[in-house]
Amino acid sequence: MFTPAGIGMHRKRLLAVAIFSLMAFCYEVVAASQLATERPPIAEPTPTPSVAPSDAPQKASYSSCRVDGPYIAMTFDDGPHPVLTPRLLDVLKARGIKATFFLIGQNAAEYPDIVRRIAAEGHEIGNHTWNHPQLTKLNPAALREEINRTSSTIAEIIGKPLLVMRPPYGATSAYINHWMNREFGMKVILWSVDPLDWKYRNSARVERQILAGAQPGAIILSHDIHATTVAAMPDVFDSLLSKGYKFVTVSELIAMDKPAPQVAQKEPSASPTPR
Ligand code: NI
Repeated sequence: MFTPAGIGMHRKRLLAVAIFSLMAFCYEVVAASQLATERPPIAEPTPTPSVAPSDAPQKASYSSCRVDGPYIAMTFDDGPHPVLTPRLLDVLKARGIKATFFLIGQNAAEYPDIVRRIAAEGHEIGNHTWNHPQLTKLNPAALREEINRTSSTIAEIIGKPLLVMRPPYGATSAYINHWMNREFGMKVILWSVDPLDWKYRNSARVERQILAGAQPGAIILSHDIHATTVAAMPDVFDSLLSKGYKFVTVSELIAMDKPAPQVAQKEPSASPTPR
């Protein structure tokens, strides 16, 4: 069957296949090693809002925003809670305040009616992973599963995609942030005010800490799974409203974000007080 010329052709084809397979293999090895090496160690527990001016306006993550008005974003993590989240929604509704809820996927799956109510009342919903792991400790496949499962479950309940996510414990990296942007179209949202409400279950303290930290462009962290936090909110909201603050969702706040000023420009020494 095979002529000498035919064998030669066959060998050439085999050689071509072998070279191609080797190239594909090398590419995968390089890609895998990049994935492994590009993930820096765990971020500081309390993230700092430092982003290079060259990153603006397409930032991958936000701890606060530079805005022209007295705008502020209240964010609530770890819900929905069957009793406390509806109670908080009543408090928000009575004041016409819009907030952002970073939901845990498995809680959202358990209480879809509350998830629907959050969305129906104009609040934003973000991804807070399926069961709250530290993302910097996961391998890429587990990380993808945490995000995918949560986004698809919630998107199915509310009928629209999620645009923001918050990493549990604020544990993230530049690599994870850009990966969230690139692969899932979500901005990573940290915070500038942390009342440590999960640690100190004291409404007066929660209120004091939030009022002390609030300033235009702030992203305030809280948890609607603690009764003391939800109990603090009527006074927190009324105080902030009386100071002239306007509440917006996280996506609305980051849409207003301005690039950081150049080094040559003079920055005002104090933050403007809202009025
Ligand atoms: Ni959390």
